[in-house]
Amino acid sequence: HTDPLSLPFEETLATLASLLPEKLRRPQVGIVCGSGLSTLAAALREVVEVPYASLPGFGKSTVPGHKSSLAFGLIGPGEGTPVVAMLGRLHPYEGHKLATVVYPIRVMARLGVKNLIITNAAGALNPNIAVGTIVVVQDHLALPNMTGMNPLLGPPIGLNYPRFLPLSSAYSTSLRRLAFLSAHKLKLGLDALAEGVYAWVSGPTYETPAEGRMLRNAGADVVGMSTVPEVLAGKEEGLEVLVLSLVTNMVVIPNKYRSIKEEVEAELAGKPVVKQVEETVSHEEVLMIGKQKAEVMKNLVEKIVELIASG
Ligand code: HPA
Repeated sequence: HTDPLSLPFEETLATLASLLPEKLRRPQVGIVCGSGLSTLAAALREVVEVPYASLPGFGKSTVPGHKSSLAFGLIGPGEGTPVVAMLGRLHPYEGHKLATVVYPIRVMARLGVKNLIITNAAGALNPNIAVGTIVVVQDHLALPNMTGMNPLLGPPIGLNYPRFLPLSSAYSTSLRRLAFLSAHKLKLGLDALAEGVYAWVSGPTYETPAEGRMLRNAGADVVGMSTVPEVLAGKEEGLEVLVLSLVTNMVVIPNKYRSIKEEVEAELAGKPVVKQVEETVSHEEVLMIGKQKAEVMKNLVEKIVELIASG
């Protein structure tokens, strides 16, 4: 291989070229489908699905609700715009190396993708953002990036890549604009979408109340276990990046902890004991909301691609 990280770009691209018809070989838009959102593929026509297993350098997604293939197809009116969608993404918590997690994004860039639309499921830290809301991400807060788990650590991927990638405008303002215009054109109303800051945590555990409170106090609106690695690789590859987070649950941040001391005091004093209910979040809940909102997400992504293409 010619690149310093020995990533098998040539083999991957040759495999894809052998499997795809001419009109699907140069996708303009890349789409990453988050938890429960692989039904986005329903927006594609003349689909050719290529399993990750048949692509050199690709890992396998092991998360329930995630498939493991690239879907190539056409979106929108007329001849349609060629796109490629990741049905199922890879997460560091599955044991994939960060370089493996972002490899599909780098492949997309080499296929000719210029715009990247990333979707994910996220928990809301901001109490004003309701379950079911789609958040247009305007910035991120990534503790892993700041503490030795940055996906771009290591030798530069090639000669013309920046060593110190600026992230002051990582989230494309023009694509965010198209997201809101799409919501308007679909008659969803601008309020169907919110804007906010996405906090990336490595997972696979959900946040403790103290961790949720810390992220909220630090300025994050939603939290999730994905996306930021793909954003960094996308920016490094020179792509315009849009992130849409579907809020599948509220992160539980109690103002006051259940006090066992107070309960024992009440019990010893012969007073009635009021036990606080402790809430918790589950992956089933995350998948269920994903399923309910998948259609809206699909329509939105479809419209955004149309607007990009008419550009
Ligand atoms: N925390 C982290 N990741 C998530 C959540 C959450 O509450 N919901 C969906 N992905």
